[in-house]
Amino acid sequence: MSAAADPAPSAAPSDSDLVRAARGLPVSRTPVWFMRQAGRSLPEYRALRAGTGMLAACQDPDLVTEITLQPVRRHGVDAAILFSDIVLPLLVAGVDLDIKPGVGPVVAQPIRSVADVDALPPLEPDRLAFLDTAVRQLVAELGPTPLIGFAGAPFTLATYLIEGGPSKEHARTKAFMYAEPEAWGRLLDRLAVSAATFLRTQVDAGASAVQLFDSWAGVLSAADYAERVLPHSRAVFDGLGSRDVPRIHFGVGTGELLPLIGDAGADVVGVDWRIPLDEAARRVGPGRSLQGNLDPAVLLADRSTVDREVRRVVEQGRAARGHVFNLGHGVLPDTDPGVLTHVVELVHELSMSPAHPTTPTA
Ligand code: CP3
Repeated sequence: MSAAADPAPSAAPSDSDLVRAARGLPVSRTPVWFMRQAGRSLPEYRALRAGTGMLAACQDPDLVTEITLQPVRRHGVDAAILFSDIVLPLLVAGVDLDIKPGVGPVVAQPIRSVADVDALPPLEPDRLAFLDTAVRQLVAELGPTPLIGFAGAPFTLATYLIEGGPSKEHARTKAFMYAEPEAWGRLLDRLAVSAATFLRTQVDAGASAVQLFDSWAGVLSAADYAERVLPHSRAVFDGLGSRDVPRIHFGVGTGELLPLIGDAGADVVGVDWRIPLDEAARRVGPGRSLQGNLDPAVLLADRSTVDREVRRVVEQGRAARGHVFNLGHGVLPDTDPGVLTHVVELVHELSMSPAHPTTPTA
């Protein structure tokens, strides 16, 4: 394969290593990016954000463009991820919410009744002009580097709407799911429609891949996930219609859900650090690639531990149809950005080594 001999990025983002790995095609080297790469671990991010609220920043196309580009310039990652947040579509639709520093999304009037579900405003696509502008600017700046668009999956968004903020047990969410199954279905339907609108806007403006974050789905049993959540996540991906971009689906603590999660329509299943990638590949089954799964806490340890763990993840990732190197969850705020740059270099070096060709036999 000529690609294996030429580590230079190819000209089109649709033919980048990220997109190719997501589709299970040969790559020049294992692509790597980091969830939460755009954000608090970067001093240039903190400088740019000073004086601007998180949700205001997400709606300013020039800030979105610059913040999204910062980690690409600094680390040489193989993909950009749009600087935004999973709750942004709710805010744009008219839900009263804020992102409190160090806490996360907080909703002024949580959804607690069937009437609250019916009062949830729909997301009008014409309110997303700022997003269209940001993505178009970004794609022009990024050149061959693909932009990953994203949205929050219906379940994870429902946890914020029902709990009113971050929560560990998601007990109110589950109680509502059991007590009001019809309203639950309607709520997740609505959230799926707005997530699909949010993703379509990004893809139509030039995003090369999408990731659906169902961060908290791991709190559910496989049976509840399959019956009460997965159909709505599938509706989000179905809402992309024939738009031909790879679909990544991620959640934390989803070990028991891995056999199901791809069925929502994912080309790539994101895996956290709890399950080694070779075992994850077995659980996910053939026909899908994997993304992950270095424990973000490892980046706070000494260099030899970092290197050992990166090697392990790269090795175990060879069991997958295609592997996109990432963390098992987002970059922790205290992470030294220099370590992230080092990980990018190491993953590239390890996966280009002639002793370990990454090129799967087609
Ligand atoms: O990954 C990236 O670099 C792109 C940007 C991005 C943000 N949030 C920016 C952000 C992405 C992809 C998200 C997704 C997101 N937001 C998820 C799914 C991913 C995951 O971590 O599981 C979730 C659950 C949220 C909700 C949310 N927003 C949380 C839990 C927090 C953290 C609160 C805190 O401060 O500890 C946020 C705020 C947030 N989103 C920040 C950033 C950069 C920090 C706010 C700031 O810098 O002021």
